[in-house]
Amino acid sequence: MVRIGPSITLQPLGVTVEARPGETVLDALLRNRLRVFHGCTRGGCGACRLRLLDGAVTFGRYSKGALDDDERARGLFLSCICVPEGDVVISLLEPHESRFPRWMRKR
Ligand code: FES
Repeated sequence: MVRIGPSITLQPLGVTVEARPGETVLDALLRNRLRVFHGCTRGGCGACRLRLLDGAVTFGRYSKGALDDDERARGLFLSCICVPEGDVVISLLEPHESRFPRWMRKR
């Protein structure tokens, strides 16, 4: 089988999907029916944050409120605006690291 785009392996599920050239990580996961949490899809809310375990992603424009520099340095990225540069291994976040949109938070 001929590959056209980079592979994305999602841990801890161990599922690998192929991204189309230029496709964001989130779009590739959703297109392959992997239901990962997301919100605005424009880099503004932080709901789509995942962790990069191996490989590299290119960031598009995003709000520092959605992902600050410390979180980015620790390997977190916004799947809705990041495009894999090659094969990547990523993981879901621990519950305490997740960020849900304001409308889903308990008051
Ligand atoms: S879905 Fe809102 S920042 Fe990605």
